[in-house]
Amino acid sequence: MQQHGALLREGAVSIVSHRGAAALAPENTLAAVRIGIAQQVDFVEADVQLTRDGVPVLMHDLTIDRTTNGIGEVGRYTLAQLRTLDAGSWFDPAYAGEQIPTLEEFLNELAPANVRALVELKGEWLPEQISAVTDQLQARYLVNRVALQSFEEDTLRGLQQVAPTFARVMLTREWDARIAAIAVELEVSAVGGRPKVLEQHPDLLTELRAAGIGLLVYTLNKEPLWDHAMERGIDLIVTDDPVHLEEWRGAR
Ligand code: G3P
Ligand code: CA
Repeated sequence: MQQHGALLREGAVSIVSHRGAAALAPENTLAAVRIGIAQQVDFVEADVQLTRDGVPVLMHDLTIDRTTNGIGEVGRYTLAQLRTLDAGSWFDPAYAGEQIPTLEEFLNELAPANVRALVELKGEWLPEQISAVTDQLQARYLVNRVALQSFEEDTLRGLQQVAPTFARVMLTREWDARIAAIAVELEVSAVGGRPKVLEQHPDLLTELRAAGIGLLVYTLNKEPLWDHAMERGIDLIVTDDPVHLEEWRGAR
């Protein structure tokens, strides 16, 4: 059984700095991760995919086109090849030379700062690919420091099967009447969705609460959305702008 305590705090909101801190530095780079850490958020979120030689690296899109000076699918390249790319200039020339980090480097940044990781397995992952990563996390005693999330039901089933002790988030794109039932079946700690999911189904939070499951909402970057999330009792607020959010929290 997974540890909800690794993800949820009874009666308190947790702040998740998204793709590092995507509004403030190039997403999924260590420069962005360090901004989240400096704000002492509860979690820094990052998207992870496997290189051709099986190394987990941080990358959101299935291709490297948007956020590097390369082209093509992440999985077509070895780590050594990906390391030659510039993952910062597209965002701002000041970040020229920023590299695609490995999952290991991401976790190494977080460890001394006492900030936890919310790792999204991007795309479809086979059980053996999942366990190759989660076995490493377990060997580093990170079960309570890393939560895992996915949009893909099969990947969530794989996680449930091979890494049941990790807290897990089931991400959703669209409202589906079966959300709470699937979340219970998959034994996730939280469901994640856009604010519209709550508008489409105002009772979702109550349903999830009754099942002991939390709610994560992404991606909230403005004060009115943070106010609303706090009022509703959302468990995890995902933001691209942890600096502005922490200023807002400090002023409340
Ligand atoms: O934490 C939720 C969020 O990461 C999901 O959306 O597209 O940024 O991976 P996306
Ligand atoms: Ca993500």
